[in-house]
Amino acid sequence: MYAIVSDLHSNLEAMTAVLEDIESRGIEEIVCLGDMIGYGPDPRAVLDIAKSKFRFCLLGNHEHAILFTAVGFNVKAMAAVEWTREQLNSKDYTRDENHQVWNFLGSIQSSRTEGDILYVHASPMEPITQYILPVDIHSKDLMTDLFAKVPRIGFGGHTHIPGVFTSGGKFISPRECDGVFTLGAERVFCNVGSTGQPRDGDNRACYATFDGARIEWHRVRYDFLRTQKKIFKTKRLPEVLGHRLAVGR
Ligand SMILES: [Fe+2]
Repeated sequence: MYAIVSDLHSNLEAMTAVLEDIESRGIEEIVCLGDMIGYGPDPRAVLDIAKSKFRFCLLGNHEHAILFTAVGFNVKAMAAVEWTREQLNSKDYTRDENHQVWNFLGSIQSSRTEGDILYVHASPMEPITQYILPVDIHSKDLMTDLFAKVPRIGFGGHTHIPGVFTSGGKFISPRECDGVFTLGAERVFCNVGSTGQPRDGDNRACYATFDGARIEWHRVRYDFLRTQKKIFKTKRLPEVLGHRLAVGR
């Protein structure tokens, strides 16, 4: 049994609450599907913990944006990229400390296959950028392309909307299966949801666990008011990034 987290988005309070929840289940292994940074107020702290706690991390579009160029970012997301980049170059830290952060970001891979499991941030076709939304289950060509690249199971994040796409043409949200999906003969692409900025109408931090047969999504309450306050205090991160944490949208 191990835990899969994604889209922490510099939200230290959500990350801490999720790590405590994982620990309370006796689970030691955690993997991360990217977007550790962006949007939130604690990029350095989140990257520090990610580096030491996660077995591997993948490159999300927010890490890609800060390392290379921002593709498809709106004005608010772009403001967060710029602010985050400044934090990671902060003069409050030594050159060496800043180098370590950038070296870590530079070492992250964009996808990973282990046995019959594929891990990506976004989609099997475009691991860093492509959104696969629940409605896309109706797009036959897209699903054919997707499952052509999924060995038996794929895990992703990116949309911040948890659920499972099956090769048989169904999208099943955690609400529809009481938070547990058991693998059968069909192949699946599973979105593990977002720890740091949920967008499925539930403001609790989200992550998943997997034991080889069963995927379970977990929701964890955390002190989002504290995260909001930190966002507002920066005066640079758009306030909407704080407000949305309260509603999970
Ligand atoms: Fe994200």
